[in-house]
Amino acid sequence: MSTFHGYVHVPFCKVRCGYCDFNTYTATELQGYPQTAFIANLQVEIELAKQSEGKRELQTVFFGGGTPTLLPANELAEALELLRKNFGIAGEAEVTTEANPDTVDEAYLRVLKEAGFNRLSFGMQSAVPEVLATLERTHNPAAVATNVAIAKRLGFQTSVDLIYGAPGETMEQWQESVRVALAMETDHISAYALIVEPATKLARQIASGEKPQPDEDLQADKYEWLDSELAKAGFEWYELSNWARGAAATSKHNIAYWQGRDWWGFGPGAHSHVAGRRWSNVKHPTTYAKMLADLQIPSTDGEILSSVEIQEERAMLELRLREGLSLEVVKGLNENHAQSISELVASKLIEGKDALQGRAVLTLQGRLLADFVLRKLLGL
Ligand SMILES: C[S@@+](CC[C@H](N)C(=O)[O-])C[C@H]1O[C@@H](n2cnc3c(N)ncnc32)[C@H](O)[C@@H]1O
Ligand code: SF4
Repeated sequence: MSTFHGYVHVPFCKVRCGYCDFNTYTATELQGYPQTAFIANLQVEIELAKQSEGKRELQTVFFGGGTPTLLPANELAEALELLRKNFGIAGEAEVTTEANPDTVDEAYLRVLKEAGFNRLSFGMQSAVPEVLATLERTHNPAAVATNVAIAKRLGFQTSVDLIYGAPGETMEQWQESVRVALAMETDHISAYALIVEPATKLARQIASGEKPQPDEDLQADKYEWLDSELAKAGFEWYELSNWARGAAATSKHNIAYWQGRDWWGFGPGAHSHVAGRRWSNVKHPTTYAKMLADLQIPSTDGEILSSVEIQEERAMLELRLREGLSLEVVKGLNENHAQSISELVASKLIEGKDALQGRAVLTLQGRLLADFVLRKLLGL
């Protein structure tokens, strides 16, 4: 049986960043849903999940958003306690929350530490005020280093999220952000290429010519520069967008997700995947609350994955990892696998020596073209 993992989605933000299409709501978008009702709703959801799934110990827990740290610290502590009481949390479990830099302070982080949180992922994005302004991030950039230092002193593992490729961001500005991030000496760094999601304010600004389109070649150069700087600083890539100082510093929760383990997502819009079944919760907090008031699990029907879908999903997720994808999976999905694999090795998109040992492991060039490599491996 797979290991079991918990995700809690906290769908609140003070303001919406122009590039973000996550399931999150500002006060005016909540349509009367009181944020103060969230923990009571979550309690009902956790108890219903326990009745359906039975008591399965959680190996990792991750609070994401939205902005989990918009909730008072004692409410996050309470949410964790509800999971502990209903499912149990393994002794060594990694327990993370995402944190927007200007929403926490020492007193707040102390409450989280005492409650059992042991890892913080700060949404830094950039150190450069002009880039933060383009992204419509409202935090004071200095708050990241202050809170990372406090978090380290309190004994948390720490990570920062960066975004590269904001419209108009220069190579020098990106390098400045990376240097500032490295100076904080976190255990882990995530870096995401900015995706221009349709129906966001940023997409409209780009369409109207108010902001320039991100430059894909420059994005690739930024990734390569980042990877080499992080390697010099002792970080190793273990997933396309994630680097850690050694295996102990990797995100066990995200690895479980990429390895296709069982996880239950709580909160509006959260996704779940348990024993080959996949479903997601209703998105708006008012609909979520209404279903819970009727003691219904607040989800859509979901789908049972076919064995081909399971293998394709496995290929998509595992190819992103440093360990790579077993070529047995490729053989099962692609009649012309031998040719696809040899072409990818010849074009230096997957490592030849790993291919000989039965795994597709992306080269640096392959990491930049991961979607193409996946399609080729699947024979699409
Ligand atoms: C959805 S946020 C939630 C955590 C927190 N609110 C924050 O902003 O840091 C998680 C991560 O997704 C990133 N993200 C959101 N939209 C993105 C996009 N369009 N392209 C790339 N990264 C994005 C955020 O910048 C952040 O680092
Ligand atoms: S990026 Fe984070 S802070 Fe910004 S709107 Fe999305 S979830 Fe909220």
